[in-house]
Amino acid sequence: MRTAEIRRRWLEFFEAKGHAVVPSASVISDDPSILFNIAGMVQFIPYLTGREPAPFERATSVQKCVRTEDIDEVGKTTRHGTFFQMNGNFSFGDYFKAGAIRFAWELLTTPEEAGGLGFDPERLWATVHHEDAETVDLWLQETSLPRERIQFRGSEDNYWHTGQPGPGGYCSEIYFDRGPAYGTEGGPEADEDRYIEIWNLVFMEFELSAVRSKTDFDVAGELPAKNIDTGMGLERVAFLKQGVENMYEIDEVYPVIEAASRLSGRRYGAEHEDDVRMRVVADHVRAALIIIGDGVRPGNEGRDYILRRLLRRAVRAMRLLGVTEPVLPELLPVSMGVMKDSYPELERDFDRISRVAYAEETAFLRTLESGTQLLNAAVERAGEGGTLTGDIAFALHDTHGFPIDLTLEMAAEHGVEVDAEGFRVLMGAQRERARADAKAKKGGARDLSAYSQLLESGRTEFIGYDALSSEARVRGLVREGAAVERALPGDTLDLVLDVTPFYAESGGQRADSGVITGDGFTARVLDVQAPVKGLSAHRVEIVSGELAPGADVLAQVDAGHRLASAQAHSATHLVHSALRTVLGPHAVQAGSLNQPGYMRFDYAFPEALSAAARAEIEDAANIAVRDDLAVSYEHLPLETARASGALALFGEKYPEIVRVVDIGGPFSRELCGGTHVASTAQIGPISVLSEASVGSGTRRIEASVGLEAFRGLAKERTILQSLSELLKVPGADVPERVASLMERLREAERTIADLGRQRVLAAAAGAADSAREIAGTAVTTTDLGTLADAGDVRTFVTDVRERMGEAAAVVAAAGTVNGKPSIVIAVNPAARENGLRAGDLVKEACGVLGGGGGGKPDLAQGGGQDATKIAEALAAVAAAVGRR
Ligand code: ALA
Repeated sequence: MRTAEIRRRWLEFFEAKGHAVVPSASVISDDPSILFNIAGMVQFIPYLTGREPAPFERATSVQKCVRTEDIDEVGKTTRHGTFFQMNGNFSFGDYFKAGAIRFAWELLTTPEEAGGLGFDPERLWATVHHEDAETVDLWLQETSLPRERIQFRGSEDNYWHTGQPGPGGYCSEIYFDRGPAYGTEGGPEADEDRYIEIWNLVFMEFELSAVRSKTDFDVAGELPAKNIDTGMGLERVAFLKQGVENMYEIDEVYPVIEAASRLSGRRYGAEHEDDVRMRVVADHVRAALIIIGDGVRPGNEGRDYILRRLLRRAVRAMRLLGVTEPVLPELLPVSMGVMKDSYPELERDFDRISRVAYAEETAFLRTLESGTQLLNAAVERAGEGGTLTGDIAFALHDTHGFPIDLTLEMAAEHGVEVDAEGFRVLMGAQRERARADAKAKKGGARDLSAYSQLLESGRTEFIGYDALSSEARVRGLVREGAAVERALPGDTLDLVLDVTPFYAESGGQRADSGVITGDGFTARVLDVQAPVKGLSAHRVEIVSGELAPGADVLAQVDAGHRLASAQAHSATHLVHSALRTVLGPHAVQAGSLNQPGYMRFDYAFPEALSAAARAEIEDAANIAVRDDLAVSYEHLPLETARASGALALFGEKYPEIVRVVDIGGPFSRELCGGTHVASTAQIGPISVLSEASVGSGTRRIEASVGLEAFRGLAKERTILQSLSELLKVPGADVPERVASLMERLREAERTIADLGRQRVLAAAAGAADSAREIAGTAVTTTDLGTLADAGDVRTFVTDVRERMGEAAAVVAAAGTVNGKPSIVIAVNPAARENGLRAGDLVKEACGVLGGGGGGKPDLAQGGGQDATKIAEALAAVAAAVGRR
């Protein structure tokens, strides 16, 4: 049975049992501490905890999941994949244990011909938490499973939570017995390779307040309702149903193994080590495909790092299989080809996805060779059982792009350890530097509990789409993460209101500015952020008076600032639309920033804009301004909005009901929560400032907007006017005139250089004749005055030395080039026999000139700072010859 078929049967079964079919959430988790969605239940957590009312009592989904804690096990066992799909059915206060058991048994044991999954009931087992005897009874009551195939286990196996505070509960797991060929008798307790876990039924009934490990957590109490969360591993069921040995050999993965085998010329199934490598490749390529598909790009932190590590591990595994050419262009399309039935967006976005992946491989291949050499040399020095120092690991990371885990793995292959602590210290220092650079940057790993607590008494209502000022009540004050009871003049802290007209920074639009006033006090709003979803924190500076929670205030947005932000944001939508018109729909948005007077827009595109394309885009955006297109808003279900052509940002999680900003009907439709002008003529001019690359495959276009654009253009006009006066030509002729002036200048410089060289050479004969005899050596010193080229001094000196004959001779000459002294000294063979060295003599001279120099015994040169000391320096050379 194909994987897609198992998935289809699953959804159909639960839909028929009254479950709402919910699409998979993005693999990127909303919660920054989880990074990736690790289970189907993550998108339902608010319903499980009762924080939000569930829109349905029953739901089912097939969720894209990524777990990387067991990345080292990938390929070595039958069942560890970094990417996997979890089929789930959920009940929010509806059916509980008995229902979950009944559904699972029915779907698993109904024969394939009758639409089920056709597992032999005689080969199924279940495990139950040892404190949960009730569940054993339910298994006996609801199914034909005999008591001897139900085993009790502890919390390690039969208590489930996400690893974070939140919902949790006992669980009951269903196992399939692969038979005696795969291991010993005795159920899951005895052998988890023979008995494969296929489905976990979690009875979510507790709220956990702290989680320290799988088995060490605090239960705060019961959840408002008893819920069901189940997870069936789609890949595991697929490999059992497809009669293959492990999850890497199923229809959605194996084709990549075949491709890896073809590329490397190694046969899958011949050598265990090679098999593991091919499985790693197939697993990681697929995981990377999905992760990039959901908007992640490789980097050095968080989920970006995980993606980088997956891609680089895959590339390295191929290298260990003997392939040194780029491999992703061969493998990624194969993975996309087998995954696209379930995820059609992978094919639609493949252009973007593949560009990101291929760029990462290219970058890694550039340093893989040099990094491997460095690592091998260091490993050899350390010897087996030795330790690689932290600074080598850091250099591998920083200069050669080796994720630390790759270094650890590679070193371990040679029996060498890595001073990971030393590495972390160096990384920490680097981060500290980066942090100092980005001091003003917001966010970071802050303690948000003070804000979460304020959120419990309600969200901040944003009324700023319609109003610029509002009465409000201070709900709380937060300073450096802690709630405070009073704010005094001079304090800078976060103020949380029940209602606000202030726009909090999001979607690339900077926050509003303005003032908050009240009984005897005034506060200036410096910034507004949403540290937790639904809550606006106004970063204020108290100008005068005092303030405490509960105070009534007046919140007033600076209207000029708001209008300028709106102009910039609407301009961004116009430029986005113009870009897509000119470049095509591949120019996908990658990010943006809007602030008064300025916008910038990042988009995926492999090459620079031509001057013509840039002008066309600017023109199209300004025509849209002239046409005074109306701006309107709609709230629509996400799918309806997308179907209507509204553009969304990759990797962004949108709510079910989204706001669509429409400018001029078909001209621009985007999902956007920002503030905009009422019609485009309010934007004013849009003037493109630059277009440049900002990293692999991403370009950035910047523009000034509105009054700022006008002022910028006016300033350029003034510059042009003064140039035109200076050059005495009309403005339009300025470029041509400058070009011809530059050409004349270049010619004049060439002439001056030629004349200089002639003058210098003409002086050579005189210099040779005027040599003085000092301690048996003929010495000549010349100040050549101002020169265009330092090379002329050298030409002069070697020419004079030629003329001096065989007897011992020293030639020194200096000149002033660009205001700085330059000196060259030549010594002939006879003088060298007398012990004179050009390098030594130059040092004497440079000491006087305030600089340094050096060279060979026969010819040396140097320079310094003070050209007025040339005569003194030349005298020093003569004196040094005399001392010999
Ligand atoms: N949430 C449960 C799991 O991931 C079903 O195992």
